Amino acid sequence: MARRSIGIVMNGVTGRMGYRQHLLRSILAIREQGGLTTADGTVLWPEPILVGRSEAKLRAIAERHGLTEWSTDLGAALARPGVEIYFDTQITGARAAAVRTAIEAGRHVYTEKPLAEDVEEALELARLADEAGVRHGVVQDKLFLPGLLKLKRLVDGGFFGRILSVRGEFGYWVFEGDWQEAQRPSWNYRVEDGGGIIADMFCHWRYVLDNVIAPVRSVQALGATHIPERVGEDGKPYAATADDAAYGIFELEGGIIAQINSSWTTRVFRDELVEFQVDGTEGSAVAGLRRCRVQHRSMTPKPVWNPDLPATEDFRAQWQEVPDNAEFDNGFKAQWELFLRHVAEDGAFPWDFYAGARGVQLAELGLRSWREGRRVEVPELAHAGGAAKAGGVSEPVKARANGASESVKAGADEASEPAK
Ligand SMILES: NC(=O)c1ccc[n+]([C@@H]2O[C@H](COP(=O)([O-])OP(=O)(O)OC[C@H]3O[C@@H](n4cnc5c(N)ncnc54)[C@H](O)[C@@H]3O)[C@@H](O)[C@H]2O)c1
Repeated sequence: MARRSIGIVMNGVTGRMGYRQHLLRSILAIREQGGLTTADGTVLWPEPILVGRSEAKLRAIAERHGLTEWSTDLGAALARPGVEIYFDTQITGARAAAVRTAIEAGRHVYTEKPLAEDVEEALELARLADEAGVRHGVVQDKLFLPGLLKLKRLVDGGFFGRILSVRGEFGYWVFEGDWQEAQRPSWNYRVEDGGGIIADMFCHWRYVLDNVIAPVRSVQALGATHIPERVGEDGKPYAATADDAAYGIFELEGGIIAQINSSWTTRVFRDELVEFQVDGTEGSAVAGLRRCRVQHRSMTPKPVWNPDLPATEDFRAQWQEVPDNAEFDNGFKAQWELFLRHVAEDGAFPWDFYAGARGVQLAELGLRSWREGRRVEVPELAHAGGAAKAGGVSEPVKARANGASESVKAGADEASEPAK
């Protein structure tokens, strides 16, 4: 059987996501399963070249996993023969410059979200990639979660009737770093380093809502920096300048209202770290990372408000578990396989830089809504290539004409200014 090696420069593999989800659970897992077989029987074989700032850390990771290629020089790594893909999982603020370098080197680019720190830059990267004729993609891992795949199946099967609303709850307590070490890197809490929960999570909410429920048409958000000082990796206190919680309301096409809380300052009293309740005329569902439960209208109880008595019904017991009916792979790996097929055999891949730009746009407009204390329309973005169109956000419009570009710098630097 013919084997085709695909060199992948992986930048940021010393980080949390880069190491665990992308190197271990995706690229090395694909190698462990014997590669990826294409339609004509060729086996695609990813060959990672680890890139980062610390040679010692890169060498340690490579040796731990029997890899031989690493470099602290991005340009040199991209120039190596056999390299076809650049993958970026660095901190957000370092991404755009490296992606540009990769495009200039003529490599296909796959990257973590957010694609860039503002929409203008995200669209510019999309344009440059199109002009260079390289394939491009952005991680949209939540779409591959078993819970959301089952939710999407319910939507596609017409379970809900008319969808009325969505309520999402995401978050957990991230330790401040003083008496217990923080479980997220400190740059997440500094706006000057590309941090902030709106910049981080609204990218996810954009593709989740667009693809699973309906396209997002407006946003109203209130952010907060509930914990203003944290302790960093170096043991020293630092000013947490970024938002650590966001309370968002999104209007979707068809009059659906989605309300999503995102917080690193809440304690979990839920079954999973993210849960979405979808209510429709025919039934409701609660979907998390893995589980999805439903209640059909025919099974809906008729509670009567009576604070004088203890609850008379076990409401949670009145829901039914949606069966898997399929095998679900790791979401990051599943999307990596699709990107490799996109590069090697022209497979479909709708999660391109334009989809990434829509995520950045929602974050940016969320920040603008918070800053200005008002609801903000989400205009459709100009789409130079006209290629991938996700979630019905399809018709190219002039973003500049309707004010989108005016908001584009409403990104990171303004997140530090809570609405008064
Ligand atoms: N898809 C998801 O669910 C998801 C979840 C978390 C993070 N992310 C994204 O992944 C990216 C990485 O996040 P992470 O949590 O792995 O971060 P991390 O801090 O653990 O890793 C960051 C990586 O960037 C490198 N880096 C390059 N320049 C740097 C600089 N100037 N300062 C510090 N580090 C620098 C680090 O060496 C490290 O390899 C971010 O863009 C983030 O938004 C995505």
